[in-house]
Amino acid sequence: MAGHSLTINNQTYNVEIKGETTLLWVLREHLGLTGTKYGCGIALCGSCTVHLDGKPVRSCTLPLSALKKDQKITTIEGLSQNGDHEIQKAWIEAQAPQCGYCQTGQIMQAAALLTENPNPTREEIKTYMNGNLCRCGTYLRILRAIEIAAEKIAANT
Ligand code: FES
Ligand code: FES
Repeated sequence: MAGHSLTINNQTYNVEIKGETTLLWVLREHLGLTGTKYGCGIALCGSCTVHLDGKPVRSCTLPLSALKKDQKITTIEGLSQNGDHEIQKAWIEAQAPQCGYCQTGQIMQAAALLTENPNPTREEIKTYMNGNLCRCGTYLRILRAIEIAAEKIAANT
């Protein structure tokens, strides 16, 4: 057991957990941040996606021991103050979710995309979102939501 200091959604958490524990289980089981979902557990589905210093990572395979002290973790709970990130608003407008299970990861991946590339082409969106799977097949609506958000971001800049 070792002490770890984590910065999650701009809050500091001190946890006493084994270093091999993955970030996903720390978030869900120890900190009650259950918005991040467990899907495959082997970095193949994207449902556990969070941001590490703004970049999307699969938290199901990221052990605490791999995190550096000053790295900032953002989960769906911290993506925006009131659920009003352009991506979240566009998700509602496009009615993207079906069962909803994969959608946290989809939103986190899409938010990272638009930070890196605010005006992506359809092909760039498909490539970036390729590792985020949806059993309900909401891919077209996700694509549309990302385009809506990109349009809003372009209109606001
Ligand atoms: S649960 Fe992490 S990628 Fe599937
Ligand atoms: S909305 Fe059901 S798995 Fe994606």
